[in-house]
Amino acid sequence: MLFNFSLLNKLRLIIIETMTPNFNNGTLRFMDLFKFLIRLSYNSIFGKSPTIAIKKFCLGEFNYRFIYLLSSGRAALYLLLKSIEKNEQNEIIIPAYTCIVIPNAIRYAGYQVKYVDIEEKTFNINIEHLQNIITSKTKAVVHQYTYGIPNNIVEVQKICNLNRILFIEDGAHALGAMYNDQYVGNFGDAAFFSFQASKMITTFSGGMLITNNSNIGKSIDKNYQKLKFIDRDREKQMIYLIIKTYFKTHLYFCYIYRRFKWFINKISPSLSCRIKNWFINPNLNHGEMEFQGEKHSNYLECLPESLQIILQLQLFNLKKDVKRRNRISKQMICILKRKGFKVPEFDSNTVYPSWNRFPILVDNRENSLREFNRLAIPVGDWFHYPLYQANEKTKQKNNYNEKLYPCAKSVSTRIINLPINKSVTNSFIKRLNALRHDKESNIIIENNP
Ligand SMILES: Cc1ncc(COP(=O)(O)O)c(C=O)c1O
Repeated sequence: MLFNFSLLNKLRLIIIETMTPNFNNGTLRFMDLFKFLIRLSYNSIFGKSPTIAIKKFCLGEFNYRFIYLLSSGRAALYLLLKSIEKNEQNEIIIPAYTCIVIPNAIRYAGYQVKYVDIEEKTFNINIEHLQNIITSKTKAVVHQYTYGIPNNIVEVQKICNLNRILFIEDGAHALGAMYNDQYVGNFGDAAFFSFQASKMITTFSGGMLITNNSNIGKSIDKNYQKLKFIDRDREKQMIYLIIKTYFKTHLYFCYIYRRFKWFINKISPSLSCRIKNWFINPNLNHGEMEFQGEKHSNYLECLPESLQIILQLQLFNLKKDVKRRNRISKQMICILKRKGFKVPEFDSNTVYPSWNRFPILVDNRENSLREFNRLAIPVGDWFHYPLYQANEKTKQKNNYNEKLYPCAKSVSTRIINLPINKSVTNSFIKRLNALRHDKESNIIIENNP
């Protein structure tokens, strides 16, 4: 026989594993970067717009009617809140386990933030608590599908309808996830998604606002038309960072990346600085302002065409990628449950997660991290604060008191997360199988001397 197919398959898996970064740029593939660079020059010659293709795809695939491509997920929420009619209802309810940028966006838009605790099994809003905190001042509920797991949607929908308040879906982690065989984004009055580096698909920083409500769509349109595009300097910087992050965060390419950097530094120490300075303008980094709870002047902008191209390429991969993530998640759940780890619990007949990451709750994070490291399993601690990336000042500004939300606090101290993208191959699953974990005490068994 000329070909040994199982050998070929192994080779294919090795190539896939070596071609995928472990956390960032979830669905971005090496070939996408290549196609992107070709399309960049092709687009400038023929002027073909990706916006129409994205809109057509989102309508056909996800059933999203009004689509707005923006500079970030937070900007999408901000634009939505600025576009809806403002009356005496000025409170927006959000989960107490979220990223600081969400209460910031609500506050910037002139609303009060109110928090609701989460449920431990899916990290989504706790329905009973939600019912208790709605008042006549509530304008909307933001339902966040944390880690890409959409739960309790019908319940939130009912509560919102009953109280005549808006239902906003935070699908930042959940693009491609489904509930009752419908894509998330189709249940609320509006939804927003994030294309930041750690999300399902990435434009380094970017977001999408969608609605199927034509009245809301019309009022967003009016504001959207006035927006300017992210400027050329920032656009150039984002493209550079997408490519750089891909290689830098890659399990294997990072080695080549480091050697390459070392080599450039060796032949000309100033060259690497010059390259970086050409692409990166430190004045364009608004992250610090955001973490201090202050809105910067480029907060709300439209996503330029070049970044839309990279978005379009990944959108086409998404369905297949989410399917794969779900297949892997079943194996992970089975192995980790058997070993006594606490994994998400949901009704798999209704909930089809996108699995932005695979969350696990452990009793002793330090021991667990050590054990995962021993087996070279990359582990993240995403959302290890209840109000992620907040400091005392921003907590105060956003009226957040973590003592009031015991489940969010407890989850944040016990959470760890695993990648579940293409870097997870058979060898990764084998390593998971080799984890040593004591079911009874939920503590990793130390090595025998
Ligand atoms: C749950 C959640 N919602 C919304 C956002 C905001 O997305 P972006 O960073 O694109 O503004 C984030 C950001 O990380 C998030 O984690």
